[in-house]
Amino acid sequence: MRVIVNKQPEGPPPKPSERYDPIEIKSVPVPNPLKGTVLVKLRAAALNHRDVYIREGQYPAIKFGSTLAADGAGDVVAVGEGVEESLVGRKVYINTSVGWESNPRVPEDPRKYGVLGHWPLPGTLAEYILVPRSVVFDLPAHLTYEEGAAIPLAGLTAWRALVTLGEAKKGDKILIPGIGGGVALFALQFAVGIGCEVWVTSGSEEKLARAIKLGAKGAVNYKNANWVAELEKKSGGNFDAVIDGSSGPNTKQFLRLIKGGGIISVYGAVAGSNVTITMPYIWFKSAQIRGSNMGNNAEFRAMTKFIAETKLKPEVSGVWDGLENAEHAYQEMRAGKQFGKLVVRIKHADSRL
Ligand SMILES: NC(=O)c1ccc[n+]([C@@H]2O[C@H](COP(=O)([O-])OP(=O)(O)OC[C@H]3O[C@@H](n4cnc5c(N)ncnc54)[C@H](OP(=O)(O)O)[C@@H]3O)[C@@H](O)[C@H]2O)c1
Repeated sequence: MRVIVNKQPEGPPPKPSERYDPIEIKSVPVPNPLKGTVLVKLRAAALNHRDVYIREGQYPAIKFGSTLAADGAGDVVAVGEGVEESLVGRKVYINTSVGWESNPRVPEDPRKYGVLGHWPLPGTLAEYILVPRSVVFDLPAHLTYEEGAAIPLAGLTAWRALVTLGEAKKGDKILIPGIGGGVALFALQFAVGIGCEVWVTSGSEEKLARAIKLGAKGAVNYKNANWVAELEKKSGGNFDAVIDGSSGPNTKQFLRLIKGGGIISVYGAVAGSNVTITMPYIWFKSAQIRGSNMGNNAEFRAMTKFIAETKLKPEVSGVWDGLENAEHAYQEMRAGKQFGKLVVRIKHADSRL
């Protein structure tokens, strides 16, 4: 089968700020199902910003020659010992978060936890993938393979940050910064589906307008110097929760924007990893800052039920045909112009299975 792997760059090592490891298509054997595992014939894979960070060398323990990307959907073609045969032929998508069943705070055994598309776990830019039975879920019937592949990593991250840690419920007032982000967009769709009042920020007027169409009540451009005052004036502040992937200088502004007892559920730091905040705000406001990392199988199951019941469709920004076009999807992600997910449709050179 063909897979996309990262490749050691030739010549002298690039400066860390210029690193972007090349990729290539490689031929490897189709894996045999082992006890408790499922072989999925992948039909589509999708990218997350993390996949670019991996090529930029920003993740620990990067191993050249590893199959890339975390999100995928396809058909079950074989199962290992102990897995129900009835799974064969089912249209599925895969939870990227492997080794976390339902423990509310962290994986049951952090040493056995990993995310697909980062060595030693396999990736989804491949014709087939072998994964544990526990991370294989029926694809809701209203979704195509491309839409299914668009959901797992960003959808699960948004679900945990919004529903589990953000405690979002009908009528809550929720702020979602940087709405062009893959995770942020799912948080918006889920929050609107739950019945929350959602406000968003973006650096792009076009993305703000699209978020309003998806159900946001109001939107502010964070590139305006006075965006916090503008947001406070328009929305009245008092947010129950901020679902945030930006951090940096924004965090102290979110402390101002939440209501007493409000939650900042943080999953990313695109605006800066180091944050200065005035600690008395935390206790005088009874504020809670909660770190949200991916999610578990119980949350994936709950998210899948919600998607099936509400017939939610993910925003797909672009679909590229064939593994040989994956680099175009990576370039689009690097440029950051997308609104929604970037998907690669997988064509099969070898159709023995
Ligand atoms: N904890 C986890 O489990 C987890 C999972 C997935 C991702 N992440 C992290 O979450 C972050 C976002 O990931 P992603 O895949 O959603 O990335 P992405 O699709 O590339 O989105 C990044 C978004 O950040 C927004 N942004 C940039 N500067 C901003 C600022 N100053 N203020 C507010 N928003 C700003 C942009 O929004 P606009 O385009 O609207 O301006 C951009 O679309 C990354 O740091 C990633 O590593 C964490």
